Amino acid sequence: MITDQELDILINELYESYGYDFSGYSKASFKRRVDRLYQLDGFTNFQSFLSKIIDDSDYFSRMVEEITVNITEMFRDPHFYRILRTEILPVLATKPFIRIWHAGCSTGEEVYSVAILLKEANLLEKALLYATDISPPVLEVARKGVFPLRMMKQYSENYMASGGKKDFSHYYTANYGLAKFGEDLSSRMVFSQHNLVSDRSFNEFDLILCRNVLIYFDKELQERALHLFDDSLAKLGYLALGTKETIKFTSMQKRYKQLEKEKIWRKTH
Ligand SMILES: C[S@@+](CC[C@H](N)C(=O)[O-])C[C@H]1O[C@@H](n2cnc3c(N)ncnc32)[C@H](O)[C@@H]1O
Repeated sequence: MITDQELDILINELYESYGYDFSGYSKASFKRRVDRLYQLDGFTNFQSFLSKIIDDSDYFSRMVEEITVNITEMFRDPHFYRILRTEILPVLATKPFIRIWHAGCSTGEEVYSVAILLKEANLLEKALLYATDISPPVLEVARKGVFPLRMMKQYSENYMASGGKKDFSHYYTANYGLAKFGEDLSSRMVFSQHNLVSDRSFNEFDLILCRNVLIYFDKELQERALHLFDDSLAKLGYLALGTKETIKFTSMQKRYKQLEKEKIWRKTH
């Protein structure tokens, strides 16, 4: 286990060497993840752990992947997707072009889920889905659109609970334990690396999804990310957060109106 002081040294070195600033991540869970990696890779002293991270950029990449939580699934919280289907997409349908940003997209399951909703609403052709994450390895997986076949039973159930009516297997080709999603879906997606701690707004969006990411940030960093989303949202655009996240008690609250039932806010001015 590393000490709190060593954790501070590590955070500082990561910033100095790689420009990644983890000082705004919630300390307790961040430390747990670093400790886990330290033990998993069999380190016995902090100095050798630190040297490995600083001297070996591949190991640094592995570290980023391990200390950020990448858990995700298709149609996660099906009711959220039902509300997207029934209340948000009909509004977006009136626009000539639809821009969506998935911030913290992990391995892409959320992006493919939204692309399926758009396709079923006949909106995919006029939509672009920008999907970003801090971690290059998860973006590589997302780009391929290939997920474990064993997950499809649960994803199919989630899809149906979200109001999906098709046979879910219609969307992928099964091969050697893998499910490859169609290129009609991925052709409307743009994947790129983007760090919510330090990078800027890069477009204007009608809908931003940042689900289950802010939960790992402290209050100050959450405010920074929310300002970034505010700068990146068109007037009357929507912001969707995870079930345990909120803009309540932040400076954004007065400029947004929450939809009933779900963690979705609309920018009012
Ligand atoms: C738990 S996953 C959420 C995936 C998906 N949005 C969902 O709800 O299923 C959190 C993702 O946030 C990413 N992340 C963590 N810190 C980030 C940052 N500073 N900038 C961008 N993405 C970040 C992680 O790499 C991880 O893929």
